[in-house]
Amino acid sequence: MAKFNKLAGKHVLVIGGSQGIGRGVAEGAIESQAVVTIVGSYRPNLPPKMQSADKTVAQLKALYPSASVIGLSCNLATDNVEADLDNIFTQAKAAHGKAVDHVVLTAGDPVLALAPQDITLEKIRHAARMRLELPALLGKVAQRHLARTTASSVTLSTGGVAEKPNPGWSVTAFMAAGLNGLARNLALDLKPIRVNSVEPGPVDTGFWETGGMTAEQKAAAFKAWDEKLPTGAVGAVEDVAEAYLYLMRDRNATGEVVKTRSGANLL
Ligand SMILES: NC(=O)c1ccc[n+]([C@@H]2O[C@H](COP(=O)([O-])OP(=O)(O)OC[C@H]3O[C@@H](n4cnc5c(N)ncnc54)[C@H](OP(=O)(O)O)[C@@H]3O)[C@@H](O)[C@H]2O)c1
Repeated sequence: MAKFNKLAGKHVLVIGGSQGIGRGVAEGAIESQAVVTIVGSYRPNLPPKMQSADKTVAQLKALYPSASVIGLSCNLATDNVEADLDNIFTQAKAAHGKAVDHVVLTAGDPVLALAPQDITLEKIRHAARMRLELPALLGKVAQRHLARTTASSVTLSTGGVAEKPNPGWSVTAFMAAGLNGLARNLALDLKPIRVNSVEPGPVDTGFWETGGMTAEQKAAAFKAWDEKLPTGAVGAVEDVAEAYLYLMRDRNATGEVVKTRSGANLL
């Protein structure tokens, strides 16, 4: 076994691996000789094999012909989330003939910018679907499927607003800060399985368009950030993905928050 490339031969499950940061983690894991399962959302109006995860698997196989990668599609924003997560681990194991060693959660729907007067019970519950219910139940389900060793890990995704307030993001800030608390506490509850979180600053993914920005609005917002940020640019997926790859590899890291924020916290 490689001393430093601890992902070689491991099974990495990236929930949210069909796009953005998760796709970058999947690529990094493939380059590290891991076998990979990615999960994207399920859109009932699309024909079989045309889901986002299927398309991404085809692209990854074109880029890395020897990669062992499969894709699964599931809507994880429903009341059936616990059973669906259980199925994902089971299907991933059956497809690769090997249990999952590391699970990364990057799946997330657009964050709701909400001024205090616009906050409603319905919107709070909507925000909690993918940023409280999904990660909390992932901890529960992962415990059933991961080997009880420090070579197994769960990595959650949060965001810079956990620490640096942003007008209109109060509910999102609650979720982001809570995700760090959840990861820290699960690290005790699931020990010796390791649980950590990654806190990105702004990253160049489709997340912003999915959230309703036009290409022009995104370009203008990113230009303004680039002019202010100490690194001179919002995060690139291949850089931010390193935080996740690190947390999978370092068997000494649990209950940690790894931050990769272009220095946005310094402004
Ligand atoms: N990008 C940033 O600037 C930034 C900054 C800080 C924190 N974050 C956080 O980091 C995480 C990843 O962000 P990203 O930029 O990589 O987002 P992204 O590019 O929009 O990717 C989101 C992923 O989540 C999946 N997804 C969305 N809704 C789903 C559902 N209902 N069921 C299952 N999967 C679903 C998507 O699948 P499909 O491909 O099928 O749509 C996609 O794989 C998010 O939690 C985000 O809040 C992002």
